Amino acid sequence: MKMKKDGEQAAWITAYDYPTASFAEQAGMDLILVGDSLGMVVLGYESTIPVTMADCISHCQAVRRGAPNTWIVGDMPFLSYQISDQDAVGNAGRFHKEASVDCIKLEGGRRVCSKIKAITDAGMLVMGHIGLTPQSSGQLGGFKAQGRDVKSAKDLIIDAIAIQEAGAYALLLEAVPPELTGFIAQKLKIPVYSIGAGQPCDGQLLICGDMLGMFETFTPKFVKKYANIAEIEVNAFKQYINDVKSGQFPTDEHVYHILDGKEEFENLFKEFDFSSR
Ligand code: KIV
Repeated sequence: MKMKKDGEQAAWITAYDYPTASFAEQAGMDLILVGDSLGMVVLGYESTIPVTMADCISHCQAVRRGAPNTWIVGDMPFLSYQISDQDAVGNAGRFHKEASVDCIKLEGGRRVCSKIKAITDAGMLVMGHIGLTPQSSGQLGGFKAQGRDVKSAKDLIIDAIAIQEAGAYALLLEAVPPELTGFIAQKLKIPVYSIGAGQPCDGQLLICGDMLGMFETFTPKFVKKYANIAEIEVNAFKQYINDVKSGQFPTDEHVYHILDGKEEFENLFKEFDFSSR
């Protein structure tokens, strides 16, 4: 809220593990989302649907250990909040009690407002997420941009207002046109963030696997690549394989030398040399 008031953009990424979280904190990242995208980016599933509460909690714990001083958003996985308000509060609570997140995020508009209200009433912060919502990509006809026609844009505006009224402290817009992002950001009092939704709004999110060039299955149009880690890793692995096979690794600098005298060691080896008996 302070950053929004000061007109400072928030920069955030997803992270799922200790080292990435630690690097993000060292770089000065404003927020980290432990997204259920971990299902696709880290666990190799085709969608986010199979991701469980246990997966999310375990990855949030690792991220919290790596980034103790960064605002962490825990992403509620499919069916951890849709079934009932009670489930939603219980599972949101687990993110806080077991993984020390700062807030949780859940997908959907009006149809999840009772969950947003219930979690908020229980004393937790909720970030809404509308537009392209991967958990309902089946209903949306795939991973497709939303709000590009007037009817769909109107639905999203009504959802955004409903989410704020239900008590959400922030809203994430995914893959909607910048015109709509600007309208919603100026209409709402709460911070509005974008992933693939352009600007003006209060900050930008990218998936770390996309921006670091580690996720090769597909790259959405909205991604800007800042590194090609996949290429760096494959090249490093190739060099290592080559070094091992050609005997160039390990060398003297990579081994632990004996502490006692050479002669004592030779005597020790003789003790176990049965070939001459
Ligand atoms: O899981 C995730 O990383 C997300 C982003 C796509 C917003 O929810």
